[in-house]
Amino acid sequence: MGTGFAGNIIVVGVCGSIAAFKVAGWVSTLAKEEARVPVVMTDSAQKFITPLTFAALTGESVYTSMFADEHSGAMSHIELAQEASVFLIAPASAQTIARLAHGFADDLLSTAVLATRAPVIVCPAMNTRMYQHRATQDNLSRLRQLGYTVVDPESGLMACKDEGPGRLVEWESVQEVLWRSLRSLDLQGEQVLVTAGPTREPIDPARFISNRSSGKMGYALARAAYRRGADVVLVSGPSTLNCPYGVRRIMVETAAEMFEAVCREFEKATILVKSAAVSDFRPAVQHEHKVKKKNGAPALELVRNPDILYEIGRKKRKPGQLVIGFAAESENLEMEGKRKLQRKNLDMIAVNDISGSDTGFEADTNRLILLTGDETIELPLLSKSETADRIFDVLKEKFRSSPLS
Ligand SMILES: Cc1cc2nc3c(=O)[nH]c(=O)nc-3n(C[C@H](O)[C@H](O)[C@H](O)COP(=O)(O)O)c2cc1C
Repeated sequence: MGTGFAGNIIVVGVCGSIAAFKVAGWVSTLAKEEARVPVVMTDSAQKFITPLTFAALTGESVYTSMFADEHSGAMSHIELAQEASVFLIAPASAQTIARLAHGFADDLLSTAVLATRAPVIVCPAMNTRMYQHRATQDNLSRLRQLGYTVVDPESGLMACKDEGPGRLVEWESVQEVLWRSLRSLDLQGEQVLVTAGPTREPIDPARFISNRSSGKMGYALARAAYRRGADVVLVSGPSTLNCPYGVRRIMVETAAEMFEAVCREFEKATILVKSAAVSDFRPAVQHEHKVKKKNGAPALELVRNPDILYEIGRKKRKPGQLVIGFAAESENLEMEGKRKLQRKNLDMIAVNDISGSDTGFEADTNRLILLTGDETIELPLLSKSETADRIFDVLKEKFRSSPLS
C-alpha cells in the first residue's frame, strides 16, 4: 500500500520519558517509508536514549542543542520550523507540554515549534497522576486551543506500575493522525456516515443467518473519510476489524438494528455510503431456546427485512445530502447497478464483482464499477484503501465542485 509519507519532512521531538524508546520504532518506520525524519531531542530525552540511535535510524543529524555548532550543514531551528511538513512530539513530557502551552522558547524543541506554521501533533506520555493533574490538563486544553492536535494517551499498566491513562498511544493511531495532517482535507465539513460488515439474523440463541462480508471495504471508506478531514460515523455489523482512529463506531447485529441506527444518524449526515451487506431475509420466528435436532430438521420460514437503501432513498433529503449504495453482483453488473441506482434513488452506486477471489467479500482488493446518473467509471483492481479514496475523489468531482449549499 502507498503510505503517503514519502517526501515529507516529519520533525520528531523526543522528550524525557521512559517511552522514548518506543518512538525509535516509529522513526525507523517513517525513514523506511522514505520520509525525512529529523529528530530533535531535549536534554532529558538524551538520558533515556542516545542521539546515535536516531542518527543511525534516520541517516540525519540529530538536533540536541540550540547553540551547538557540531551540526555544520544541518538545519537551524528556524530552518527546521520552516521546512517541516509536520511536527510530531512524542513522547511529550508534562514539562514540554507546559513549555509549549505557555509559548516558552528555552530549548531547541520549544523554539522550533514556536517558529513553525506546520501542523503540530502532541502525544503525551507520563504517569497517570501527572497526566490527570489539573495543571497538565489545562496545558493540554491550551494546546488544543492553539490548534495543536493532542493524541490522547492510552490506559494500561505503566512502567511505574500505576494503572490508568498516560501510556504513549500506539503507532497505528499516530499514523492516522499524521496522514490526516499531511493530506489536503478536502472532506472537511462533511459528516460522513458509513455502514459496513454483514448483519446477523438470529434463528435461536446459538445460530444465525449471515453472509461473507468482512467489513473491510466499509472500514477503508471510514478511514479514508477521516484522513480527508470528515467527521465520520461507522455503523458496523459484527466484524473483527478494529475501529479506525478518529471514527465514531456504532456496533449493531441485525438488519433492524442497522436500519434504526442509519435512520437516526442520517439526520446529521451530508454523505451516506452504504457498503454493509444487509441480510435480505430473517427467520420469521426467533426461538428462545436452542432448536433440538431430535425432532428432525425444522423448516426455516423467512421474511423480508427492510431495504435500508430503498427506504433512505425515499426520504426527503437536505440540499447536498448524498446517498451512495453498493451492489454485490456476480453477473450483468452494469445492468443490475443501473436498475438499483434508479429504483433506490441513489446519487451513485458502486457495483462489486463478487465472482472472483481478488474482489468483493473478504478480499483486500476490489474492482468496482461506479455508476452515476450519467456516467460509468470502471476502477481498476486496487486495494480497498485506494478504492475508498477513488470513490471520494469521484464524489468530490461530480457533486462538490460548487461549495456545499
Ligand atoms: C525514570 C524517569 C522516567 C520519567 N518518565 C517521564 C514520563 O514518562 N513523562 C514525563 O512527563 N516525565 C517523565 N519524567 C520526568 C522528566 O524527564 C522531567 O520532567 C524532565 O524535566 C522533562 O524534560 P523535557 O520535557 O525537556 O524532556 C521521568 C523521569 C525519570 C527519572
